[in-house]
Parts: sequence; structure tokens; C-alpha cells
Amino acid sequence: MNKNIVCIGAGYIGGPTMAVIAKMNPDRKVMVVDVNAERVAAWNSPDYALPIYEPGLVDVVKETRGKNLFFTTDIEGAVKECDTIFVGVNTPTKMFGRGAGRASDLQFWEATAREIKAYANRDKIVIEKSTLPVRTAAAMEAILNDHATHRFTVLSNPEFLAEGTAINDLLEPDRVLIGGPQDENGLAAIAEAMEIYAAWVPREKILTTNVWSAELTKLAANAFLAQRVSSINAIAGLCEATGADVDEVARVIGADRRIGPKFLKAGPGFGGSCFKKDVLNLVYLCESFSLHTAAEYWSGVIKMNEHQQERIVSRLFKEMFNTLANRKIALFGFAFKADTGDTRETPSGRVARLLAEEHVRLAITDPKALPNARRDLADLDNVEYFDDEYEAAKDADAVVVMTDWKSYPKLDWEKIYDLMRKPSLVFDTRNCLDRKRLAAIGFKVLNIGK
Ligand code: UDX
Ligand code: ADP
Repeated sequence: MNKNIVCIGAGYIGGPTMAVIAKMNPDRKVMVVDVNAERVAAWNSPDYALPIYEPGLVDVVKETRGKNLFFTTDIEGAVKECDTIFVGVNTPTKMFGRGAGRASDLQFWEATAREIKAYANRDKIVIEKSTLPVRTAAAMEAILNDHATHRFTVLSNPEFLAEGTAINDLLEPDRVLIGGPQDENGLAAIAEAMEIYAAWVPREKILTTNVWSAELTKLAANAFLAQRVSSINAIAGLCEATGADVDEVARVIGADRRIGPKFLKAGPGFGGSCFKKDVLNLVYLCESFSLHTAAEYWSGVIKMNEHQQERIVSRLFKEMFNTLANRKIALFGFAFKADTGDTRETPSGRVARLLAEEHVRLAITDPKALPNARRDLADLDNVEYFDDEYEAAKDADAVVVMTDWKSYPKLDWEKIYDLMRKPSLVFDTRNCLDRKRLAAIGFKVLNIGK
């Protein structure tokens, strides 16, 4: 076994993870390959215009690229050169055939497995990093080892990083999880994979399990987090109806050490590439094993999340005298959360579409996500995009804060008020602005759960 590492898939998971692995293992050569030549070129760009925005990422890439970190489209060469192969290709929700809308689309994973098999020149350890349904590793092992001249050992090493804090999450993980076959060969492969992380992660934080536990853990962990968000959002509706304040309720619930304070922020609902996909996967799995009540339970998490965006539009409707047609609404924030340009499953996208159905004139602004917003909403007329928040707010009837960018509370809200039509409404769906100050300026203010 040599110490070289390749990751197939240079996306949100593969890029940052390999950059940190390279930084912390200067003695290992780390290669990241992708079929998308444009993406690889961006990773290699001389001015570090990387294909994804992630705080701190550029510094890690500057430190390692060209030394022991390499981005390439040469899958064959990389597979031949490296004995440890991570797979971080995309596994979106399947949009066709059996399991459409719920199961994962594994075509990229399978294509990758076939490539690995075709190019392998000796025994290899294959490590899944993409979120995959339980038992995928077994299926992949079957594809790889069927009539194979070399032995492939498949491990599951799910990634728990969150976007926006990826570099820190990778440098100081709560835990690293490595699942593998519990036979001699599997345990040896787990030990190899452990060495990569042990370069900087304390060994007691590297947890090992069998493959299926590792695969299921990733789905379960994300489902638990998503469920917390839906739970607090369900309480938020009740707060609005009764005059309670959801932030106060969350603060006190979170003071119970058994519950803890994190992931209790009510808002426009969760977005991102993982939560919805993973919960849907869990639902599909439960149904496949005839666990219908469990499937329904997890479906409720998604239903609640979608309801949250519908509620935002209903409340705007009510506050704006039941007519939204031809009125201008500025959405502040299109990324699914702050500190990322990622717009996959973003609540802003859904709110924008619901408002477009009402013939609203939309103005969208975001510090990092405008290129993705333009692409996502390309089919809609009546949408304008602005780098400048003040331009976006000009002549608007309402500003809806959808993403909790740290810059938003620091804006000159007096100026925004002067630029807007009267009466001027701010719907702060992230509860990140100073409500009293806005009211003192003259705004009508709406929040989630207040
Ligand atoms: C998530 C998991 O945190 C991570 O472990 C996993 O590997 C991938 O999925 P990510 O989607 O990047 O990471 O972001 P996260 O910070 O978890 O936020 C997810 C969504 O929930 C965002 O839209 C966020 O705004 C929302 N959220 C989060 C809330 O609405 N309230 C909260 O209290 C926390
Ligand atoms: P994730 O969030 O899981 O990292 P991304 O979509 O950001 O997902 O990245 C996945 C990457 O995997 C994409 O850049 C895509 O081009 C790449 N990819 C998909 N299939 C293959 C393949 N067979 N070989 C190499 N790269 C692939």
C-alpha cells in the first residue's frame, strides 16, 4: 500500500476535505480528480478563483496546491498512482423511475466504481464520502470484486462538515467515522484510513463501526438535525398565534443540557444539499422495509419545512392587503445560509417561486450567491438581481431577509427606509435584525415566531 490519496469528485465535499487532508499530511500526495474540466481549471486557477466559496479554503489551497495537492481530470492516472481512493461524487435525489423524488440517484457513484475497476493496477481501498443509502457499500463491493483481478475493500467515511464552517469542521471535528467490514482485511483497511486522520484528529475522536452503521449514521445524524429545525419552526407558528416569542422559548429549552442550545433557531426552513435528500432517503429506506409509521414520521420533517416557506408568503399576503401582483419585493439573501454561495434547496428559491406565482416584481441581492440565483431562476420573468442592497430596496414595498448574512444588521436601514415605497415592510425571517430599531425608523416589522 502506498500513501498516495485520490478523491474522485472535486465538489463541496471532495475539494475542502482533500485540501485539509493534504495540509495535515504533508508527506502524502493528494490528488483530486473530476470529469468537469472547467471545475478542475477553477481549482487550478492562478488567482485562486476556486469553484466554491468557503471561508479559509483559499488559504489552505494556497499552502498545499502544487506541493502535495493536485487537481486533475486524469482519473486513470490518479487511480493507478494511489492505493486509497475516496469517492465524493454527487448523489442527488433520483428524479425518475423507482424511488423518484426520494431515493438517491447512484448513477455517478456506479460509473465511478466501474472506472476504478477498469483502471486499478493493484489492490485498492475505496472509501465512500458521498452520502449514500444504507448498503450501497455492499453493492459497490460486489461490482468492484466481481471477476476482479485485484481486491477492493470498501469503507464508509461519511463527512459531517457544514458549509460555511467546512475548514474549521474539518480541522476540529467532533468525530470522524470510519465504517468497514469486520474481517481481517476490512479491519486492516480501517486502520489505514485511520492513519490519514490521526495526523491531526485525536484518536479517541475517530470512531469505527461496521459499514452499514456508518452509512445509516450519516442519514440519521442529518435527519436528527433537520428534525430539530422543523420542531422549532413548528413551535414558531404557535408563538405567532399566541404572542409567545420563539427566540425566548428556544433560549430556555436550550438551557437544558439534555437538549443543548444549538440548532434551535427558527427561520425560513432548512436548505442545503443534505438535509432534504437524507431525510427523503431515510423515508425511502423505511418504506422499503415496510416501516410505514417511521416513514411517515420522517416525512413530517420535510412537510413542516415546506410549510414554513408557504407561511412566509401567506403572512406577506396578509400584511400587504391581500394583493401582491405588481408590487416589488426585495429578497435579501439567496444562499441557503450565511457564508456560502450555495443555493441548493435554498428556502429563498421556493419563496421566490411562490411570490412569482403572485406576479410579484422580485429584486434579489446576495453577497455570494447571485450567479447561482440567476441560474436557478432563469425561467422566471420579472426578477432583477443586484449586488447592492440599496439598489435592490429602491421603490420596494417590502424587504424580506432570507439569509442571515452578518452584513445585513450593519446596513444603513434609515437609508433603506427612505428608498422604499410607503408603507415599508421588513420581514426578517432569520430574526437577525434589531426589531425595535427598525420599528423606530418607521418600518412595519414581521419576524418568524414573534
Ligand atoms: C448539514 C450538516 O450540519 C452537516 O453535518 C452535514 O455534513 C451536511 O448537512 P449544511 O447543510 O452545510 O450541513 O448546513 P447547516 O449549518 O447544518 O444548516 C442547514 C440548514 O438548516 C440551513 O438552511 C440553516 O439555515 C438551517 N438551520 C440550521 C436553521 O434554520 N436553524 C438552525 O438552528 C440551524
Ligand atoms: P458534493 O456536495 O457531494 O461534494 P458536488 O456536486 O459539489 O457534490 O460535487 C460532485 C463532483 O463529482 C462534481 O464536480 C462532478 O463533476 C463530479 N463527478 C461526478 N461523477 C464523476 C465521475 N464519474 N468521475 C469524476 N468526477 C465525477
